[in-house]
Amino acid sequence: MIAPEVGHRGVPAASATRGRIIIAVDGPAAAGKGTLARRLATTLALPYLDTGLLYRAVGRRVLDAGGDPRDVPAALAAAAALQVSDFARADLRDPVADMAATAVAAIADLRAALLGFQRSFGGAQGAVLDGRDIGTVVFPDARAKLFVTASAEERARRRQAELVARGVAADYAQVLSEIRDRDAQDENRPVSPLRPAADAMLLDTTALDADGAFARAMQLLAPHIVDEALLRKA
Ligand code: C5P
Repeated sequence: MIAPEVGHRGVPAASATRGRIIIAVDGPAAAGKGTLARRLATTLALPYLDTGLLYRAVGRRVLDAGGDPRDVPAALAAAAALQVSDFARADLRDPVADMAATAVAAIADLRAALLGFQRSFGGAQGAVLDGRDIGTVVFPDARAKLFVTASAEERARRRQAELVARGVAADYAQVLSEIRDRDAQDENRPVSPLRPAADAMLLDTTALDADGAFARAMQLLAPHIVDEALLRKA
């Protein structure tokens, strides 16, 4: 059980980030958040959490048990049983896991159950976290918030290339349709919908490669964070 906090839905995190360097990286699927957030974490010497893995691991456990990822008790039981080894599974990033993660992610009590783990991640130091609701719900007072986007077509192209590189057959039109479907579900769910926080800095990576996105992110973060974090690292 790695996510003990249940019933904290909507609890303000006002004091949760005191003295901590929290960088929130949110945005839709395949916008380049993971690559960027991992690189920011390395550069700033902060721990990194891919929060999508929490929802993927829960979705996978529900499927393993023969359940429906939309089923609330099944998702909560899966969250309660999570082990660190769940995050090392090889099948967390295939299209079936994508859809299961998006389905469990719409369950309010499941999101609440995963809050405590996310908020305590990185301890006193802080962390870089990527997801959909880091800047809006998990850490509304994060030190800096990036909202990373790209056109759906470009995201589908990247996602297809990633799947093909991993040996998974992927049709572009189908990948695009799944991305649009996941976007719609993430944006329209009543609980923690995907949207930029009011104070998020927008970063459109449609025309940027990974280096370009990183350079732009460092420019955006500089006034908020960079000197202090780099000093700490030195
Ligand atoms: O980021 P990733 O694509 O791995 O996330 C998988 C799914 O988990 C997303 O489509 C979204 O539905 C859900 N998710 C979420 N909140 C987060 C991270 C992921 O709802 N913070």
